[in-house]
Amino acid sequence: MSTAIVTNVAAAEIPIPYKTAARPNFLMCAPTLYDVTYVINPWMAGNVHASSRDRATAQWQSLYQALARIADIQLVAPQRGSPDMVFTANAGLERNGIVMLSSFFHPERQGEEQHFRTWFEQAGYLVVDLPRDTSFEGEGDALFSTDGFTLWVGYGPRTLLASHARLAGIWPVAVASLHLIDPRFYHLDTCFATLEGGFVLYYPGAFDAASLAKIEAFYPAEKRIVVTEEDALRFACNAVNIGSTIILNRISDHLTRQLELKGFHTVQLDLSEFLKAGGAAKCLVMKLSRTA
Ligand code: ARG
Repeated sequence: MSTAIVTNVAAAEIPIPYKTAARPNFLMCAPTLYDVTYVINPWMAGNVHASSRDRATAQWQSLYQALARIADIQLVAPQRGSPDMVFTANAGLERNGIVMLSSFFHPERQGEEQHFRTWFEQAGYLVVDLPRDTSFEGEGDALFSTDGFTLWVGYGPRTLLASHARLAGIWPVAVASLHLIDPRFYHLDTCFATLEGGFVLYYPGAFDAASLAKIEAFYPAEKRIVVTEEDALRFACNAVNIGSTIILNRISDHLTRQLELKGFHTVQLDLSEFLKAGGAAKCLVMKLSRTA
């Protein structure tokens, strides 16, 4: 457990010391073979072969370095024919040594499953499968509350609602399903993030009314950090939170200040090359609960 190092906040406003597991552990995949070669979300439209691999590599390195200061990072080797493998958040969902492997909705990404399976098995994780027609896109659509007792799971564009019941059977969690209704925010992690201190960062426009009501019933108003459409389009919700640190793409000064007032400090990176494929900081990492 570590205590938050709170900067940029007046003493009277200093809140909660955030809890962090000794050194969190993440899975990443270098962008050696990254490219936009097909269109499976609105961000990719008009961006086929429009990304620079050199810039993508530099941007990915900046994320790797920011993360490596405070976390351990495992690497899975990139594979030919799987240009989206850099987005390891979609490999599956892991907790307590068990991985629910993703069953991708789009055939374009289904080839990744075997590579991620091999990595998890070799690293000693127990891999659990879903039927092919029950699509589930891993941590991209499934996020634990910071107390670990609730699993927020998106459905609609990618993950099917039918996969949610299966998740509740694997871990002792209450699964809360959220319906994603804006094609630009096709994965839950593009519009929703659970933060230390019991906060939630989210873009309300991405959800239907029943889902918003669930979020509001769970998080009291003072714990909700509402993101504008402008910041949501900068992937502000696609944030990696470790203790009081939040690593993410560049966001507005207004949102930066809001996060600071809640006791967080942000590490803002230029991840523009990955936005062309519809991803940013959080999509590029998968949380692992133990070191292999
Ligand atoms: N091009 C990828 C896709 O559409 C991007 C995945 C982003 N990952 C995420 N966790 N949101 O599948």
